Amino acid sequence: MTDKERSPILIIGAGAMGRLWAGHLSPHVPVRLATRTSPDASIQYTLVDVEGAPELVEVGPSGDTAPECVLVMTKAPDAEAALAAFANALPPAVPIILFQNGMGSQQAIAARFALRPVFAASTTEGAYIDDGRVIHAGRGTTWLGPLTSTATPRLGTVIALLRLSGLDVESDPDIEGRLWQKLAVNAGINPFTAVLDCPNGEILGHPYFEERIGRVCREVAALMQASGRPAEAPGLEAQVRDVARRTAANSSSMRQDVRAGRATEIDMMNGFVVRASAIHGLDAPVNRELTDAVKLLKQD
Ligand code: PAF
Repeated sequence: MTDKERSPILIIGAGAMGRLWAGHLSPHVPVRLATRTSPDASIQYTLVDVEGAPELVEVGPSGDTAPECVLVMTKAPDAEAALAAFANALPPAVPIILFQNGMGSQQAIAARFALRPVFAASTTEGAYIDDGRVIHAGRGTTWLGPLTSTATPRLGTVIALLRLSGLDVESDPDIEGRLWQKLAVNAGINPFTAVLDCPNGEILGHPYFEERIGRVCREVAALMQASGRPAEAPGLEAQVRDVARRTAANSSSMRQDVRAGRATEIDMMNGFVVRASAIHGLDAPVNRELTDAVKLLKQD
């Protein structure tokens, strides 16, 4: 069997990340791309690689063969409903890989589809859409780990499949630990960039950020400790400052969502911290203040 004769990989969500993966996988394995308007879209677009070289990507349609695996690449608030629309037609053994930011949506999906092999991914690939072209802004690594018990024995196979893309894919048996660390960074950067409407680096030194970041990290660290995750607020704050410095020129995903009038992922970031803290009898007033502030920017 050549790679082209395999069952397709179904990618749900045709934003920058979905198109980046479709562009890297489609030369090697059939790809089905599900957009908001079509479950098997036929689309063409230009993918500009990290060296700036443009390449034409043509995807689909791929027919109704059951997929070999499913990559869910919608925004976090849309993920569960988008996957549920396909679930009845998916054989139970098909691996499902969740690429959402923040926390909460992955756990809700893993609970709903607990008997299926469900994985979470955390990626540092950088991509955005500019004037219809997908720009691969920076190479990164995609970490993958199991969320359900049936996923654990399939980890190696799924990693080998995703490596057909040529992108860097690594395993992380404690993917939830990685998601917690990313949550802390997102909770400490994204709402500030959205409220201040500035690139990541400009939050550093701004009074709105400096007056709150210590307390944001203390609230996140308290929640992590209550959830059995080792965390210290000063370490989390150092990580937030380090990522803000290293991505100084980036416009965070939340700032981009607000600017584009899209729903933000605040409920899966600072909003998750507030809800999950309450379950442990903890209050998270600064995370609540930031959640409310972002919701006032965009009524989502
Ligand atoms: O959400 C984002 O934009 C990114 O996760 C991060 C790390 C804040 C960099 O922009």
